[in-house]
This record gives sequence, structure tokens and C-alpha cells, in this order.
Amino acid sequence: MTSSTDDRNDGQPTMSQPVVSISGTDGTQLDMPLIGLGTWESSGGQAYRAVRDALDIGYRHVDTATYYANEDQVGAAVRDSGLAREDVFVTTKMPQGNAGRERKTLEESLRAAGLEHLDLWLIHWPPGGQARPDVWEEFIKARTDGLVRAIGVSNYSIAQIDELTAATGVTPAVNQIKWGPGLFDASLVAAHAERGVALEGWSPFKSTDLAALSLTAAARRHGVTVQQVIIRWHVQHGVVVIPKSSQRERIASNFDIFDFELSADEMRDVDALGRSR
Ligand SMILES: NC(=O)c1ccc[n+]([C@@H]2O[C@H](COP(=O)([O-])OP(=O)(O)OC[C@H]3O[C@@H](n4cnc5c(N)ncnc54)[C@H](OP(=O)(O)O)[C@@H]3O)[C@@H](O)[C@H]2O)c1
Repeated sequence: MTSSTDDRNDGQPTMSQPVVSISGTDGTQLDMPLIGLGTWESSGGQAYRAVRDALDIGYRHVDTATYYANEDQVGAAVRDSGLAREDVFVTTKMPQGNAGRERKTLEESLRAAGLEHLDLWLIHWPPGGQARPDVWEEFIKARTDGLVRAIGVSNYSIAQIDELTAATGVTPAVNQIKWGPGLFDASLVAAHAERGVALEGWSPFKSTDLAALSLTAAARRHGVTVQQVIIRWHVQHGVVVIPKSSQRERIASNFDIFDFELSADEMRDVDALGRSR
């Protein structure tokens, strides 16, 4: 379920942005902003600058991973932003090769980021291509122990998600998968929704033909960029999107999608890019 939230933080700008409600510890729900900043390949100080810029612009969600080797920069930027910790949603991911060393990996992530908890911790890829309920049990324990507020998976199939649920009784809150107009699949959207799993997309731009007519035509009609059309399309579908940029103007423009709306016809035409794969 998606909605908007007001960010009331003394001394900070007040803003409203769309969120999806995801399952947290002990049946609680938490708000995950639909737009986050991706940080893969942001390194050498770029990630710190990009996250500071994004939080300044209005983003309240950042995506990192152990594998990106920038959790230290992401965490420092969150701490230095002046925002209350509870107002920023931070995701990191455990590499599949660290299966069996879950708690140590999480402790290293927290130490690197200088944070007491994460908002979302994901299994980055199915370890060895398998669902691995034993790994998932360790994620559940980390949530119970308060080190993470929500847990999920990335690059899992629906069958693998069902395997985790059947084995443990706990369904991943989120599945982060490669997604964009060029990969749209209504049945996959429905399968996630039926299970209460929030769909989060990665590589929104790289996964799509940016010259596709339905995108360029919508961009021209609304006086925006193709990238803004793509972000807006995710938000109107209620799908979490984490565009990466290390350039402040692009970080700003990727977030500047709240004063236009794609029509039902435009949404249908963009969806059709997925069927032409
Ligand atoms: N779970 C997984 O397995 C997985 C895999 C891949 C990615 N991810 C996550 O998803 C995030 C996004 O995916 P991604 O980084 O692969 O690809 P992406 O967000 O689709 O594209 C990023 C590229 O687009 C450029 N760009 C960004 N905004 C732009 C704009 N407004 N106009 C023109 N170019 C623009 C960026 O360049 P500049 O930086 O120069 O602007 C960068 O080269 C990652 O950063 C990561 O957090 C997760």
C-alpha cells in the first residue's frame, strides 16, 4: 500500500513524499520512501557527496551494499546531514558469498556506517542460486534483536520467496530486482502484491531503451526528461525506485517528479515496453 508522509523534523524542511508500507519487527509496519538514491559505483568520496546532496534535496532513502564498499561514506553522510536518524531510510545488503557469516557481516556494515541499526537488510543474491532458509533465519534473528527494522531479499524468484515463507513463516518485506519500463511484467507485480512483498527496482535507466517512443513522447508532452518519466512511472505503479547519480543536478532532477502525472494511456504505453522484450 502506498501513501504520502509528512516529514516533521524540527529545523528541517517539511516535505511530503510517497511511501510504501512494509512489514517490520513484531508485526509493525514502517514507511519506505518510494524514491531512494542508488549508490553502486559511487566511490572515492562520490558516495558521501551524492548522499549529502540527495538528503539536502529531499530524498529520505539511500541504498547501499557491503559489495559497494561505500557504507562508510553513506553512513557518514546520513550522520552529517543533521536529519534525525528515524527520518532517513537506509538499506544495505549482504553478499551471497557471506552466507554462514550473517551476523558478522551485519556488524561490519553497522560499524562501517556508524549506525546503530539499518532500516532494511537484504540478501543481495540467492546464495549459490538457492533460497537458503537457514540464511533467512539469521536475518529474522537480526530483526528480532533490533539491529534492522525490516528484512528482505534481492534478485529472488517468487518460488524462492515462497520457499522462505514456507520454511520460516516470515515473508521478505521487499524483493529488490532489476526493473524498469523495458522489464515491466504485470503478473510479476501481482505476484509480489499478493504476498505482501514490496517490489523495489534496480537499474531503472540502464534496463530501459531511453529512446523508446512512449518515453520520449511523454517527456515532450510534460516538458520533462525521459529519466523523470521513468521515475514517475515507478511511483505511479507504487514500485520503489533507486536511481543512481553522482551529479547534483541529476540527483535533483530525478527527484523532481511530483508536479506532473502520467495519464492512464501514457502508463499503458510505457508498460507495453515490457511486452516488446
Ligand atoms: N540488488 C542488486 O543486485 C542491484 C544491482 C544493481 C544496482 N542496484 C542498486 O540500484 C541502483 C540503481 O541502479 P544502477 O546504478 O545500476 O543504474 P541506473 O540508476 O539505472 O543508472 C545509473 C546511470 O545513469 C546515469 N544517470 C542518472 N541520472 C541521470 C539523468 N537524470 N540523466 C542522465 N543520466 C543519468 C548515472 O550517471 P551519473 O552518476 O554520472 O549521473 C549512471 O551512469 C544502484 O546504484 C544500486 O544502489 C542493485
